[in-house]
Amino acid sequence: MALLLSPSILTADFGRLGDEIAAVTPFVDWFHLDVMDGHYVPNLTFGVSTVEAVRRSCDLPLHVHLMIEDPGRYAPAFRDAGADRISFHPEVVPDPAETIAVIRQSGAGAGIAVHPDSGLEHVEKHLEELDVVLMMTVRPGFGGQAFLGEVIPKIREAAALVGATQRDVDVEVDGGVKLVNIDQVVAAGAQIVVAGSAIFDGVDAPAAAKRMRAKMDDLERGEPG
Ligand code: DX5
Ligand code: ZN
Repeated sequence: MALLLSPSILTADFGRLGDEIAAVTPFVDWFHLDVMDGHYVPNLTFGVSTVEAVRRSCDLPLHVHLMIEDPGRYAPAFRDAGADRISFHPEVVPDPAETIAVIRQSGAGAGIAVHPDSGLEHVEKHLEELDVVLMMTVRPGFGGQAFLGEVIPKIREAAALVGATQRDVDVEVDGGVKLVNIDQVVAAGAQIVVAGSAIFDGVDAPAAAKRMRAKMDDLERGEPG
């Protein structure tokens, strides 16, 4: 099973964002863009214009992770800005099915983001309309947090739900993933791994991305690495 690496740009040097993206592109498969509105989470990051800038900077697919209230209102604008997938937190909307429909009608793939404190009820209910299940292993709001190992059983559960459907849905894990725990994340059933501070570490992002990719290649070959 191909394992895919998706760096979150949250901890990248925004003064050199284009260079940072170009430097890691040879080693990664997606880019993960964490949009925060200061309401759903106590942090404010970036919006549509930054997604447009990233779209101009690279050809890789972009996954926009909306940690915002009223995601359905803004999803079409993020699609127009270049998002290939858009994930949202179902707790903040009255009708997740409607938000999923808005995302898919815009042409983007749809994902539900599962908060560490949330169950899989929304995933179970809407799985046939999803392209990705984004399992959060940190509390949403900030990069650089510690990995929450207690989410591992829930990742396994999500992978089992996905495995039981005919639909081709990715299980993606987001938050605190490092070289020391990525084997647990992959063993639990993740196909796509988000890594922010493990890659944009302020030291040598391309080297960090290369190391993460090499570890994932080992895991794909079934080697403990
Ligand atoms: C947290 C974001 C994550 C985070 C990943 O709210 O959704 O994508 O930025 O960064 P690290 O890998 O540093 O936890
Ligand atoms: Zn994220």
